[in-house]
Amino acid sequence: MCGIVGYIGKEEAAPILLEGLSKLEYRGYDSAGLAVFAPSGDIVIKKAVGKLENLYQKTENGSAVQGVCGIGHTRWATHGKPTEDNAHPHEGGRFVLVHNGIVENEEFLRNKYLSDVEFKSETDTEVIAWLLDKFTSSGEDPEMAIRHIMAEIQGSYALAILDKTNPDVIYAAKNKSPMLIGKGEGFNMIGSDSMAMIAHTNMFYEINDGEYVVVTKDGVEIYTEYGKKMEREPFKAELDLSDTEKGTYPHFMLKEIEEQPSVIRRIIQQYTDDDGEMFIDENIINDINESDKVYIIACGTSYHAGLVGKQFFEKMAKKPTDAYIASEFVHNMPLLTEKPFFIFISQSGETADSRSVMVKVKEMGYKTLTLTNVKGSTLSREATYTLLLYAGPEIAVASTKAYTAQLAVLAILASKVGKEYDINLKYELSVAANVIETICGERENYKYLAEKYLKDSRNAFYIGRGADYYVCLEAALKLKEISYIQAEGFAAGELKHGTIALIEKDTPVIAVITQENINLNTRSNIKEVRARGAKVLVISMRSLSLHRDKIVINDVHELLTPLVSVVPTQYIAYYAALSRGRDIDKPRNLAKSVTVE
Ligand code: F6R
Repeated sequence: MCGIVGYIGKEEAAPILLEGLSKLEYRGYDSAGLAVFAPSGDIVIKKAVGKLENLYQKTENGSAVQGVCGIGHTRWATHGKPTEDNAHPHEGGRFVLVHNGIVENEEFLRNKYLSDVEFKSETDTEVIAWLLDKFTSSGEDPEMAIRHIMAEIQGSYALAILDKTNPDVIYAAKNKSPMLIGKGEGFNMIGSDSMAMIAHTNMFYEINDGEYVVVTKDGVEIYTEYGKKMEREPFKAELDLSDTEKGTYPHFMLKEIEEQPSVIRRIIQQYTDDDGEMFIDENIINDINESDKVYIIACGTSYHAGLVGKQFFEKMAKKPTDAYIASEFVHNMPLLTEKPFFIFISQSGETADSRSVMVKVKEMGYKTLTLTNVKGSTLSREATYTLLLYAGPEIAVASTKAYTAQLAVLAILASKVGKEYDINLKYELSVAANVIETICGERENYKYLAEKYLKDSRNAFYIGRGADYYVCLEAALKLKEISYIQAEGFAAGELKHGTIALIEKDTPVIAVITQENINLNTRSNIKEVRARGAKVLVISMRSLSLHRDKIVINDVHELLTPLVSVVPTQYIAYYAALSRGRDIDKPRNLAKSVTVE
């Protein structure tokens, strides 16, 4: 979703801001803008609707906007349409600012303080700019005014603020929206994400909710909302510029699909101790053991990983487990058992729906564990424990390597809770990594199949049972989000209870068969849809395969099949989208990190 970048130093700010914004494009956006202090002392604001390319053009690649201090923004519309007026930065009297998040009480604030203001946009952000102007006009200095708005605003924000009377400072403030300060030599930066700054620095200050920051070219001062100065050391990010580039790949999604074997190997390495044994913090294991049920909370792809995680916990650890969609759980909480343990799965660690559940269960006094790809993310900081995914930055909006990483870490965790379960997970995960490598060697086959089965179809169905059904849900999500083909994942046995009515001549049905105990049952369901004209493509494990199966995967441990069977479905989605000319890495209407509920 929305992205922020700010720069103050000696270099021309506009090209740095544009480059930072380009690194944030993956988050999803529909307009962009920047504001720079010109040498004359005026603030120049440029905005453009649509692709960042339009802002590049409008600013002549940044050269038309001079100055060494500025802020930039990519906006994913929430309040008001994606128009130039609604794009950030927003101006309110003395202040120009960019904002990620949502001001929940904007109506109240407009009525209470700003009834005389003529707003130029429909955004909640403009309200913040005018509030700062109001408070400073009535005698407060800028920092007092920032503390004042922090006390007034209900909701979430990451803010980067320019004060027209002082070109030597950028103010920043944060509550429930991600923000980092990048530390440089003779310059400093502000970003909603390290990616926006990594070309210039890999040293960052973490900013907590309820803190504001005074950023100059030579200094970073962090304060609480009550004005108490905080001492904080910067940390070094384990990220370099090459992680954020496509290299020779045409799309990040393809690169990320093919990174999966190395991600699994990295996870094995990270979770192996000096004695060569896989390990997980004993406190986590003890807390899960003491609980009477594991509640997995997540959204989208991460939720689908949670469904497979349920199987891992129930089969390896004999621990009752359920996976829940966060946005449902938060408003319709099921009756909890006496000693629940909560696991949050979130690639970004910033998903607002999951965070709402986190806030609620923490208030109830329960312990929480977050599985995330982003160290220091909100869900990580707020949980009792964190397990990292080590997948490297996932830039494509459609999640691929984070899903397999989530499965791998869930498997390690479940195997450590279920000490009795006989599995050499280190070995089995290595086998899975090798099998994925083989799958990646067959991409031409998936391209051919995707074109043959899906190029002109308006819909498609994935069917499977048990773990295969969970993979089907993920496979269908991937297909619909990037190709826009209406795709659904169904429990194969459930088709005849209604959905089979949708099957007609040439309807594509992709069946996933990786489990021996359901092989014959799913095969019967395949016959049922074939009899009604469906074009069937079967993905099966070698030991269960029949000669007509179009995609045959080398065997892995039966619990780990979702790690490998999902990979051909990722390719199928990729090539189906490619054949339709879709914007694969940035599908319409979607954002990478969904920071609104
Ligand atoms: C789909 C996808 C989304 C995310 C979901 C949760 O490809 O990426 O469904 O899985 O928005 O995001 P995280 O995992 O960051 O909480």
